Amino acid sequence: DGTGTAVTGSGSSRDPRTAEGENAQTLTTRQGHPLTNNQNIRTLGNRGPATLENYAFIEKISHFDRERIPERVVHARGAGAHGVFEAYGTVGGEPIAKYTRAKLFQQKGKQTPVFVRFSTVGHGGHSPETLRDPRGFAVKFYTEDGNWDLVGNNLKVFFIRDAMKFPDLIHSQKPDPVTNRQSGERIFDFICNTPEAMHMVAFLFSPWGIPANYRQMQGSGVNTYKWVNAQGEAVLVKYHWEPLQGIKNLTAQEAEAIQAKNFNHATQDLFDNIKAGNFPEWELCVQIMSDDEHPELDFDPLDDTKIWPQDQFPFLPVGKMTLNRNPENYFAEVEQAAFGTGVLVDGLDFSDDKMLQGRTFSYSDTQRYRVGTNYLQLPINAPKKHVATNQRDGQMAYHVDSAPDQNLHINYEPSSLNGLKEAPRSAPDHMPQYTGRVMRQTIDRQNNFKQAGERYRLHEDWERNDLINNMVGALADADRRVSDKMVELCTNCDPDWGKRLADGLQAARSGKQSEGGNQQNEAKQEAAVAQAEAQ
Ligand code: HEM
Repeated sequence: DGTGTAVTGSGSSRDPRTAEGENAQTLTTRQGHPLTNNQNIRTLGNRGPATLENYAFIEKISHFDRERIPERVVHARGAGAHGVFEAYGTVGGEPIAKYTRAKLFQQKGKQTPVFVRFSTVGHGGHSPETLRDPRGFAVKFYTEDGNWDLVGNNLKVFFIRDAMKFPDLIHSQKPDPVTNRQSGERIFDFICNTPEAMHMVAFLFSPWGIPANYRQMQGSGVNTYKWVNAQGEAVLVKYHWEPLQGIKNLTAQEAEAIQAKNFNHATQDLFDNIKAGNFPEWELCVQIMSDDEHPELDFDPLDDTKIWPQDQFPFLPVGKMTLNRNPENYFAEVEQAAFGTGVLVDGLDFSDDKMLQGRTFSYSDTQRYRVGTNYLQLPINAPKKHVATNQRDGQMAYHVDSAPDQNLHINYEPSSLNGLKEAPRSAPDHMPQYTGRVMRQTIDRQNNFKQAGERYRLHEDWERNDLINNMVGALADADRRVSDKMVELCTNCDPDWGKRLADGLQAARSGKQSEGGNQQNEAKQEAAVAQAEAQ
């Protein structure tokens, strides 16, 4: 229709240019030519040779040759769904406006459309969904002020606290560059030299490292953000999604039993439940802290390897999300979706969390490469509101982001000739003040082992047994320099953890079966195999 709104704002991937009066089912080329023969290439005589001016065939095959884009460098395997977020309007019994002016949260019952993509992290686009890995939980809110992306994981902490380390972390978890196989030795070689990762290890190698599906897992923003109110005052916040379906995790044996029958089980579970009208729901909770260094705490509030203890910083519900619509096309909606931590709306802000700062560059950088310069014009990524920019051109420019009365000759600002104008400021900016020296240093309050040890003790017996067995499995064949150091780090967290790992490794190396928990887990495995067979 010339305005560039070729696809509706509902997030549908259908092209609405279906001609009325024509037979809408008629197969055409992308040039609109009706295709009368889709079975045969054009040849000289019916046994060939083929001719080259065979436009319909060349178009078809050369499009096919380009049907893949680079997959995400991390989080390549995913599943997505559309839904709605409904605000409660309050936080901890107070009007939410006290803390944030973000419009989507203000009125009780206010609805904002969302798109969510869940994912695994380390392996490729069609890898099994039963693998031990954090799970991605990325939410795009299409708000009236433009998009807000909350790009989180299921676990509440991360391996590292500085963005400089991210490529090394990921290299250690990706397949070996020589053998193309993932290796426990390489994973733990990085971890044993990165003690801040121990809290994550306590989760990831326990059943929390294999959520049973995407519906029954939590989500967390992990990094620390800020909320800003109408006076420009800020507080620190952490975001948490709590599943109303409950939480369910798998032991390694249970996961193996599922994987033997189905390596798409989480995608299937999400799609089938939504299709059946069994819509999954999550409550969004926040933890709030005043915006300062908090010297009274034994951890730094900007350290994403730490949780904020709930007894001091309770979870305060602010709204509920319901996923109620499956994508119509996986590629257009899920594969091309692009989330980023820089995508915030007025009333939400960054903290100085060093990971968050690094992430914020990385997402849009990779998306300009992975999807293309104009990725924000794609229906799944475009906001569902007016967009007017002076950005022009680039590969696959789909339309001009212009205002209806704008002078289209004017693609710059400022101008006196009816160009775009800056938006009026509605509330004061949050303007934190800084003094300090520029440096490269680790934060002072590292406290790498305390919360990891607490997590070890908080696990139920079957979770602790699974943690030990999984670590023994990953480390039994590793170089002693790596496994000895891991025993040392586990001992620092909790002496029992270190001892059980050392004993397990010794037993595995001497060919004996590791004691402690195997019997319980064997019983669980048998039950899981029986369940998988019954499906
Ligand atoms: C995806 C970078 C840490 C959650 C990605 C992608 C990159 C990236 C390049 C691929 C994006 C795309 O192709 O669209 C980084 C860097 C990090 C970091 C540099 C640290 C400095 C984290 C953390 C979390 C996280 C701590 C969890 C809170 C995700 C999720 C996705 C993702 C959920 C998938 C988004 C989707 O479904 O499209 N990350 N990441 N990342 N990351 Fe991170």
